[in-house]
Amino acid sequence: MRADRIIAHRGCSLLRPENTRSAFIHTQELGIRWVETDVNRLGDGTLVVFHDDHLGRLTPADGRLAEVNWSTAKDLDVGSHFGAEFSDERMMTLRDTLALLHELNLGLNLEVKVYAHYRAEDVVPDIIAALEDEWHDWERLIISSFNPQVLRLLHQARPTWSLGLLFEKIPDDWQSLAAEVQPVSVHCHYAWLRQPQVDAIKAQGLEIYCYTVNDRKAGIMLWDMGVDGVITDNPNLFAGL
Ligand code: G3P
Ligand code: MG
Repeated sequence: MRADRIIAHRGCSLLRPENTRSAFIHTQELGIRWVETDVNRLGDGTLVVFHDDHLGRLTPADGRLAEVNWSTAKDLDVGSHFGAEFSDERMMTLRDTLALLHELNLGLNLEVKVYAHYRAEDVVPDIIAALEDEWHDWERLIISSFNPQVLRLLHQARPTWSLGLLFEKIPDDWQSLAAEVQPVSVHCHYAWLRQPQVDAIKAQGLEIYCYTVNDRKAGIMLWDMGVDGVITDNPNLFAGL
């Protein structure tokens, strides 16, 4: 198995503010060995670890991510939405996040977001550069994206890197994208997954990971189906398994 049976979603986002230093540190404290996090782009091109394309849910500011540069974003409080005790949390760059995850010895499922204010071509070269500067454990990295062009560009540029096809519902023609980008894994929302899909994916020698599994019984059922790992907001749900 390349990734782990339990992957902490956005860090452990039910236990700490998502995609923050606290979330990643707490993931490691829980004994979890992998995290999933989202890379996104500011108006000035800075790559940050942040899920949304708007600021309102996670910061005290309004507006779109496209409208802010790093000089503003670095001061945004990304912790208070979760709890006043996290008001010191600040948005993190991709590079700082990679360095922290390395320090914490965590494996990484890096999900590349592509929102309307940029294209895959605008972020892939900088993501490659950040990873080559800051990442060290190539056996513990899977890059996934809902955007097929991200996967195509990455495969062309770095054919040996581990890629994951990411879907909400796995489409019938998933194998055509797989043939193009040679992934190691398929990632999907668990609600739509059916046993024949698991069987077909495993028959191709690929792994399968499901999000966002915040229900212990669902996780056990998925493992029984042959799913390799669950991406969860709360790894504590699976304690003792
Ligand atoms: O990578 C799995 C999952 O994170 C995809 O959805 O919206 O939580 O980033 P989202
Ligand atoms: Mg994600």
